[in-house]
Amino acid sequence: MANASRIPDDVIADIKARNDIVSVVEQYVNLNKRSGKNYFGLCPFHHEDTPSFSVSPSKQIFYCFGCHKGGDVLRFIMDIEHLSYLEALRLLAARAQIDLPTIDDAAYEKKRSQRQLLTEINLQTARYYYKNLLSPAGQPARDYLKQRGISAQTLQRFGLGYAGAGWDDLYQYLLKQSFTPAELAESGLFRQNKYARTIDLFRERLIFPIMSGVGRNRVIAFGGRVLDHSLPKYINSPETVLYVKGQHLYGLNLARQSKSHDLILVEGYMDCISLHQAGIDNAVAALGTALTEQQIRLLHQHTSDLIISFDADTAGQTATLRSLDLLEKEGLSVRVLKVPGSKDPDEYIRQNGAERFRALADQALPLLDYKFSVALSLAQKNGSTDLTIYQDQLCQILERINNSILFEIYLKKAAELLGISLDTIRAELQHRQREHRGGKSSELATKQAKPVNGRVAADGSGQDPQTESRVKVHMSQDEAYFLTILATEPDIWPDLALRPQPEDFLLAADRAQAPQPYAWLGEVLAQAAKGELGVSALLAPTSQFELNGTALNDVLTALMMRLPEQASRAQAKAEADRYYKQVRIDALSRTQHQLREQLRHSEKQQQPELEQKLRQDYQATQRQLYELRFNGRKA
Ligand code: CTP
Ligand code: MN
Repeated sequence: MANASRIPDDVIADIKARNDIVSVVEQYVNLNKRSGKNYFGLCPFHHEDTPSFSVSPSKQIFYCFGCHKGGDVLRFIMDIEHLSYLEALRLLAARAQIDLPTIDDAAYEKKRSQRQLLTEINLQTARYYYKNLLSPAGQPARDYLKQRGISAQTLQRFGLGYAGAGWDDLYQYLLKQSFTPAELAESGLFRQNKYARTIDLFRERLIFPIMSGVGRNRVIAFGGRVLDHSLPKYINSPETVLYVKGQHLYGLNLARQSKSHDLILVEGYMDCISLHQAGIDNAVAALGTALTEQQIRLLHQHTSDLIISFDADTAGQTATLRSLDLLEKEGLSVRVLKVPGSKDPDEYIRQNGAERFRALADQALPLLDYKFSVALSLAQKNGSTDLTIYQDQLCQILERINNSILFEIYLKKAAELLGISLDTIRAELQHRQREHRGGKSSELATKQAKPVNGRVAADGSGQDPQTESRVKVHMSQDEAYFLTILATEPDIWPDLALRPQPEDFLLAADRAQAPQPYAWLGEVLAQAAKGELGVSALLAPTSQFELNGTALNDVLTALMMRLPEQASRAQAKAEADRYYKQVRIDALSRTQHQLREQLRHSEKQQQPELEQKLRQDYQATQRQLYELRFNGRKA
């Protein structure tokens, strides 16, 4: 939170107070179920069919019982809009119409207003193209769509449009909407011709608006297809403040609402649209480029089961197979769907219907089986199999398997397919490995740093990098419960039976190695003493702390969600007392244990004075413990 220090705390509190979490979340999630005082909807952070994403209006927190993400309204905005702490604060401030004059970070302000402007330009543009498609001028494009079997409803769902033949129709239209030439210059929608005249980028093209797949539904870019066979077949928006190539997936805005638990990845706009029209509403397209890491992460946010259905001519290419390896490395389970006898999924669906496609999807081959089948087809010539090529191809596949179990399974399969023994194929792999090592600059050699057999199991590489920088902390269940009650019932402090102190917490033992969590705890208790602790103040830096492999932020939110709703202040105080008493008992027991160890040591070292002092401390601790337990029974 260091970078937020410039924003006064009361301003932050005001921003949060004026952004009710329910109304903020409702902009992204349909909260149509209620259970008790909480709302439920489908989690926007992971793919699910039944709602486990909950929002508590009274505690102003969200929590997903499925993926265990949780936090306050600020955390929600940070996660869903992929914003930093400051950016999220600004968004919420703007939403509540709170001015933040004290925090003008000029560069950020500029970018934000550029984004806002381009969002508006894109929206106007999409509307313009859409209306144009439905107007008399759009007849050729409508004919084209009809010929390709695209219905009026599909056209509407994807917001398709048409750019006419004029040189600068869109440009003139937007100028009339009072955008300035300077504003339009950065939109990526125009270019200069050789006479330095500004003209439209898209002319005589069918238009595909590209929507952002996360957060609000925004048009971030456009693709345009010719209506005939001229080239280039497609052109796309260049990169802008809203659009970075390789970071988006076409159709994700729709697919993320699908009830299917998996996603189908296709290559082209038209494949994606055709599948959706056929009721296969979990299709997304990679937008031409080879799949990037960002796209893979985006896919992984929505599913861990991916079906790939590329064009017939690309599916077998080694470049494609490489990018498929990336998917598996990210922890996605990948299956490959081939469309027999057709050029691409779009053509297949039009020729064979949705049912046949679905059947193919059910039978899609696990990635490694698919690779084996590609290996066979590469080795086949004139109806017979070239065993040298086949064996070489299979070995290449085996060499790249990073999972020891899968490796064993497919090693056996390969031996069977080649009609040789396991020992023979193992020996061959070892031989190849020695050659790679000896070789000068083989890419494989560097990839093959690990031995082919006796391999190390996958090293949990699917973990997000955040987890590495998180500070590991210790916290007992009682401590956590106590803190969450304190945050949800801020005014019980003066009546608490025991004065809470940071030294009682497990964090105190970690303070040398991890000073930040302990400082946070001190701050939390200080705020509670002033009656100023709230849920957000409690949670503030806790996403950077980790308890047993989970972000502390998520742990605390989960507990808060479980706190009984109607608890009266008196009940809350009683609960807090009960938890804190246990916290203190545990702390005293730890002290006692330490003293006992020290005593044993001092006896050995023959240090009577120290021994005396330790004995006194030990007895004092003993008394305190006894009192605590005794009072407990009486109460
Ligand atoms: N693509 C592109 N620029 C090109 C060609 C292709 O950006 N010059 C991208 C488009 O996103 C396209 C995808 O690559 O959708 C796949 O290309 P292709 O298979 O040729 O296009 P289809 O979507 O199959 O288009 P159509 O069926 O209309 O021919
Ligand atoms: Mn096609």
